[in-house]
Amino acid sequence: MTTATKITYTSASGNLDEFHRRFDQALARIRAAAGATYPNLIGGEPVAGAGRPLDDTSPIDTSLLLGRFAAAAPEEVDLAVRRAREAQRPWGRRPWRERVGILRRAAELIRERKYDLAALMALEVGKSRLEAMGDAEESADLIDYYSGQVEETDGFVRDMGRITPVERNTDVLRPYGVFVCIAPFNFPLALSTGMSSAALMAGNTIVYKPSEEAPWTGLRLAEIYRDAGLPAGAFNFLAGRREDIGDALWQHPGVDGVVFTGSKAVGLRIHAGISARWIKPCLMELGGKNAAIVTASADIDAAAEGVMRSTFGLQNQKCSATSRVYLDRTVAGPFLEHLVEKTRAIRMGDPTERDVFFGPVINQRSVERFERVVAQARREGAILLGGERLRGGVFDKGHFVAPTIAKLPLTSSLYREELFVPFLAVGEVSGLDEALAESNAAEYGLTAGIFSADRQEVERFFDEIEAGVCYANKRSGATTGAWPGAQAFCGWKGSGSTGKGGCGPYYVAQFLREQNRTVIET
Ligand code: UN1
Repeated sequence: MTTATKITYTSASGNLDEFHRRFDQALARIRAAAGATYPNLIGGEPVAGAGRPLDDTSPIDTSLLLGRFAAAAPEEVDLAVRRAREAQRPWGRRPWRERVGILRRAAELIRERKYDLAALMALEVGKSRLEAMGDAEESADLIDYYSGQVEETDGFVRDMGRITPVERNTDVLRPYGVFVCIAPFNFPLALSTGMSSAALMAGNTIVYKPSEEAPWTGLRLAEIYRDAGLPAGAFNFLAGRREDIGDALWQHPGVDGVVFTGSKAVGLRIHAGISARWIKPCLMELGGKNAAIVTASADIDAAAEGVMRSTFGLQNQKCSATSRVYLDRTVAGPFLEHLVEKTRAIRMGDPTERDVFFGPVINQRSVERFERVVAQARREGAILLGGERLRGGVFDKGHFVAPTIAKLPLTSSLYREELFVPFLAVGEVSGLDEALAESNAAEYGLTAGIFSADRQEVERFFDEIEAGVCYANKRSGATTGAWPGAQAFCGWKGSGSTGKGGCGPYYVAQFLREQNRTVIET
């Protein structure tokens, strides 16, 4: 009997040889299928795009064309919104058990197809094998966890009190209508699935735009929903460029709400612009500038391991990634020695290969940003490790830059700006007071971590840190690795709409509006 393998961002159980064997087979299948041409999917039908086709290449090897996607233009956005509206009434009226049944079936299909999905994500966005499989597993778990929220609340229906004996009062949550769902490249399946499945089970329909860096994974999600029995028009897939359709999507008057994961700048623009006629729901997760604090009592090896993993996993391209560290002066020396040693030992290369931890960044713009940041760091402080573009062999084929650690004065803007490249800013502080003040000075407030053996320090950290996802002493990742049902993922301040987070117990209700029903019994 083989144990079923399950991989999360922090753990792997089951048989890893079997995992690698099946991953290799899936990789061969995906490579063999590369290079095809794909349409948009609107109302269940293939639709060509009026835009210039979108070439989906691998960041590992930019000569590998994974697929050519018909790029949508505003005409296709309009058609997709119309189809989504037509589909919404019947979908919203279906008994919630049927909707949840279809979505739970989609979760099963994700698990059945997880090797192909993971291999595809490894190629399409440059994830390591374990990160890619974590993304696929998380997607299935997200659907199941959210389904539980509908089941536990009996479809969000509850009896209310009465103020006269003849009335019967019921509170129900009902769908808004059509949601636009805009997803980023870094968790191309999990974030797309989490946002869209919650909206769908609540009875909304979706116009979905995947990242232009990951349309193939997005299309696979559309196929999963279709195969699970989601009716045509409930989930419309539009490949397209942000400059062509980004604004057309959320500005369309037929859209009732937006669910978005991406940059703060874009999120704030959507939020400011969408509610011209009335206030529309805008659920946003907008990135981070996540700090790890290492106190005098910290376990230095655990701290260095946790920081290394959360900084350089997925090349720092996670909203949850650690990107700055505040070190108590008394432990700065030993901590940095451990951190540099662990970072030197990282296996870099083609992340589809077994045991490679660190792959490419997503595109040329990221390489350029990395180079700009490194030049600034050299002017302001000292590069302790890395700082260069990687060259030679496999590195010449894609977008590879070195894991980089820089010691910087606390005044540097590199402690404030989200960079999404493998660059860590480290600074020394006089103690927890200063560490908290510096951490909270950023506009972002997504994740944060502390390493301390002192329980009071840890309590104080939780009470005073301005962030929604907080960890103490997490060796497997100082600030990363949130999982559905275990860590709610709520961005505070500039990191999100500061409502209730994905992966958390209150997520699905945000896709619904309240209606009260009073009936006078005659
Ligand atoms: C993101 O990067 O937008 O906690 C969210 C983690 C992941 C983060 C995904 N679940 O590390």
